[in-house]
Amino acid sequence: MLLPLCFTVFCLIGVSPCAAAPPHGTTRFTSSRNKLLLISFDGFRWDYDRDVDTPNLDKMARDGVKAEYVTPPFLTITSPTHFTLLTGRYIENHGVIHNMWFNTTTQEKKQYYMTQFVDSYWDNGSLPIWITAQRQGLKAGSLHFPGTAATYKNETVKVRQVEPRFYDHSNETDWRLNIDKVIGEWFYEQDLDFVSLYFGEPDSTGHKYGPNSPERREMVKQVDRTVGYIRDKIQEHGLTNKLNIIITADHGMTTVQRGGTVNEIILSKIPGFSFKDIKFHLVDYGPTGMLLPKEGKLEKVYQALKKGHPHLHVYKKEEMPERLHYGNHPRLLPIILYADTGYVINGFLPVQFNKGEHGFDNQERDMKPFFRAVGPDFQKNLLFGDFETVNVYPLMCHLLGIKPEINDGHLDITKGMLDLKTNTNNNNGKQCSPKNYSKEVMIGLSAVVGFLALVFIVTMTHTMCKRRRRNQKTSVVNMEKL
Ligand SMILES: *[C@@H]1O[C@H](CO)[C@@H](O)[C@H](O)[C@H]1NC(C)=O
Ligand SMILES: *[C@@H]1O[C@H](CO)[C@@H](O)[C@H](O)[C@H]1NC(C)=O
Ligand SMILES: *[C@@H]1O[C@H](CO)[C@@H](O)[C@H](O)[C@H]1NC(C)=O
Ligand SMILES: *[C@@H]1O[C@H](CO)[C@@H](O)[C@H](O)[C@H]1NC(C)=O
Ligand SMILES: [Zn+2]
Repeated sequence: MLLPLCFTVFCLIGVSPCAAAPPHGTTRFTSSRNKLLLISFDGFRWDYDRDVDTPNLDKMARDGVKAEYVTPPFLTITSPTHFTLLTGRYIENHGVIHNMWFNTTTQEKKQYYMTQFVDSYWDNGSLPIWITAQRQGLKAGSLHFPGTAATYKNETVKVRQVEPRFYDHSNETDWRLNIDKVIGEWFYEQDLDFVSLYFGEPDSTGHKYGPNSPERREMVKQVDRTVGYIRDKIQEHGLTNKLNIIITADHGMTTVQRGGTVNEIILSKIPGFSFKDIKFHLVDYGPTGMLLPKEGKLEKVYQALKKGHPHLHVYKKEEMPERLHYGNHPRLLPIILYADTGYVINGFLPVQFNKGEHGFDNQERDMKPFFRAVGPDFQKNLLFGDFETVNVYPLMCHLLGIKPEINDGHLDITKGMLDLKTNTNNNNGKQCSPKNYSKEVMIGLSAVVGFLALVFIVTMTHTMCKRRRRNQKTSVVNMEKL
């Protein structure tokens, strides 16, 4: 009897977020929604804090959440994996399949930087979170994050900074100026709700000197100082209790095997294989490659390469292992190659000299990035298990209180890192779970009790007055009959 009444009252006073949430989450819950800063330190492998003192990252872990590691999508290179963070989609579903744009007819290729400006390459059916947030009334910004320069469905992220062509991605002074801009101007002065912020290190240092080098360890110290600087700036601007921070990366890094005993992969030396049979190729780019054989040559090329090298994996596009989610997009070429950890794929000659490389199978431990989060909506001092980075997007949408686009992630996988009270606050109605009701039930019950008390008092006063007027002598005794 009491229960239906409670629900009636819930509806009347509107305290149930599940029943009353707008179907598309377009209403802003200004009081409960905090701001969000997504930071990527390119190539920060999950275990880079193990051989370096990182006091600021350690403090952040005590104040928030530290995942053991996260699993990026394949292939584990910068633009594709960053676009997965922004869309929650696997690479074969968002279409940014490589750092390089290419045209198999004209043979034209664009490197990473110039590809940033090819709108049609990025805008291939998946909307990055900035655009979704803007469409739902939020203010978004992005600094240097891959994908920032492009226009999506005729819309760009409104507040943005794209790096100049030959930018030095490791200058710590510049890092601080960029942080001052994001925290002081964008979040504090312009009141943005969401910003993505990118740093090009420790990737460059990892490539150049290798992941086990003293140079890489020094760069991790620079990253750690930067994390301290960011949190201090946030504190200075009084944003600590209003701003959630997620810090992660796009991929890890591993040491390339070199030297006399190493059997390098050089395609032109593989018996039965010839570049004469190839119309277009994308090789000499770390451990992966793609080939478009000439008319009628696919089977010949495939058979030659298939048994060509013990550390080379060769697949027809449609036979790519399902788990890699990298076989089903029109931009992928008919033959896809990837090497075992430590090996890179050379075309005619060995032309790759990096000591560190990424791009390998995303199951390799060395390809896993780190993941940290802190802020008013996150639990404190929580060590979290590993998860795939497609799940960062639904988490971010939940934190921002926006309705996500179709994606390959699940909030269920990451919501355990949220503080319980805020776990219930945001407005995607479908995400309410039974335990979320408890607080609402208490509020509801209090309201019912208060309401009934009020009815009781009003009715009683009214009745007593009437009776007093009718018969001044029986008032007290008759109260029982109410
Ligand atoms: C590649 O170039 C050809 C010839 O100019 C053009 O028809 C085609 O649309 C281009 N493809 C892409 C993906 O830009
Ligand atoms: C994505 O790109 C492919 C190839 O470039 C094209 O065929 C397809 O129509 C694009 N899809 C969307 C939704 O833009
Ligand atoms: C794209 O946006 C511009 C202004 O932002 C507008 O003038 C133009 O009509 C839009 N085009 C389409 C196809 O929506
Ligand atoms: C680093 O950046 C600052 C600010 O842009 C600049 O003044 C300085 O010359 C740069 N340092 C180096 C070593 O390039
Ligand atoms: Zn990268």
